[in-house]
Amino acid sequence: MTQNSSPLSPSVAAGQRPLTLAIPKGRVARVLAPLLEKAGLGTKNLLEDDRRLIRQSDDGSVRFLLLKPDDVPTYVEYGVADLGISGRDVLLERGYDLYQPLDLEIGKCRMVVAGPKDAKIGARPRVATKFCRIASEHFARKGVQAEIIFVGGSVELSPLVGLSDVIVDIVESGATLKENDLHVMEEICDISSVLVANRSLYKLRLSEIAPLVEKLRAGVQSAAGG
Ligand code: PRP
Repeated sequence: MTQNSSPLSPSVAAGQRPLTLAIPKGRVARVLAPLLEKAGLGTKNLLEDDRRLIRQSDDGSVRFLLLKPDDVPTYVEYGVADLGISGRDVLLERGYDLYQPLDLEIGKCRMVVAGPKDAKIGARPRVATKFCRIASEHFARKGVQAEIIFVGGSVELSPLVGLSDVIVDIVESGATLKENDLHVMEEICDISSVLVANRSLYKLRLSEIAPLVEKLRAGVQSAAGG
């Protein structure tokens, strides 16, 4: 559980609604669509360029909720979505209690410590990040007493103007670091998108969920060439 109040009772949350999948809008949604297609969920409706936040698979069997990536686990934890697609970064940072049946192996990136070329991690480094928990746990594991400064985005700016010595952030292509004369100093962990499930609903709706998970698993394996 997070700091929020109690989730809905699973039976109330599920009701008679179709199987519901919370999907992050943006980068991940675009790479997710081919995987959903492979799992037999038509995505023509999902990919239509409009502002509807609730959509259906083309055969109507699955309902999609389109959310900010950070909000996906909340909808699943509260049981208004049975399943969701979430980055491991969000799960690590916020400590949700969700079942994680499948790594989708998309949205791959790395969580790193980065800084200017001449930066050193001293005894009490100032670290700018939007991943405060991941950063403080990383430095605590190393026995370094870091001062963690929360920033909501454009994190790469902070060491350039003296707000922090280093940053903890996600690196995907490396272009943002490169274009701001920063480099990776330490690797923290690999990140990818995972399928998450509400623990109670997973058991209650297993007969509907399990075949979908298996189709997604087959899609992941075929995308990996396995
Ligand atoms: C993310 C991340 C880095 C960038 C890394 O930011 O925080 O800034 O992407 O990607 P790259 O290695 O391919 O350059 P995002 O685009 O989500 O925006 P933000 O800076 O507002 O968080």
